[in-house]
Amino acid sequence: MFISKSVAETVAYGGRRAGFLHAGDVLALAGDLGTGKTQFVKGLVAGLGSDDEVTSPTFTLIHEYTSGRLPIYHLDFYRLNHRDELRQLGLEDYFNGEGVCVIEWADRFPEILPARAEWFSFETRSESERAIFLGDER
Ligand SMILES: Nc1ncnc2c1ncn2[C@@H]1O[C@H](COP(=O)(O)OP(=O)(O)O)[C@@H](O)[C@H]1O
Ligand SMILES: [Mg+2]
Repeated sequence: MFISKSVAETVAYGGRRAGFLHAGDVLALAGDLGTGKTQFVKGLVAGLGSDDEVTSPTFTLIHEYTSGRLPIYHLDFYRLNHRDELRQLGLEDYFNGEGVCVIEWADRFPEILPARAEWFSFETRSESERAIFLGDER
């Protein structure tokens, strides 16, 4: 578990994780609104050396950040009602692509994800504190 005491610490944590990313990795993010998932993705993207702007792809389902060491495919299942809505997106191509998939609200459709997905669960502890659990740590 990692305890973050500020937005900057969450971004920095994402930045450190970026050093361990490889093509084909799938990061599944779980946790309520405002727990820091998007801030974490900002850290990942910056840590890959990209200055692309990161925002939750809530309505578009996917944002691609391609200016870093590896492409990041940033998905968000928050507004997804049925997995069929992903069909035209060609999700498998992203999972098996040259980049890293990072999925907010992945716990809404866990059965869609490949078994190799690494889970990160975000929790609000106080106004400025967030807990981030890895895998089945909790
Ligand atoms: N330690 C922290 N880490 C990340 N965000 C924090 C932290 N403390 C407060 N916040 C606030 O929580 C919100 C997190 O937003 P965001 O990353 O978009 O959440 P999510 O994507 O999980 O909905 C931001 O408004 C941020 O300012
Ligand atoms: Mg978000």
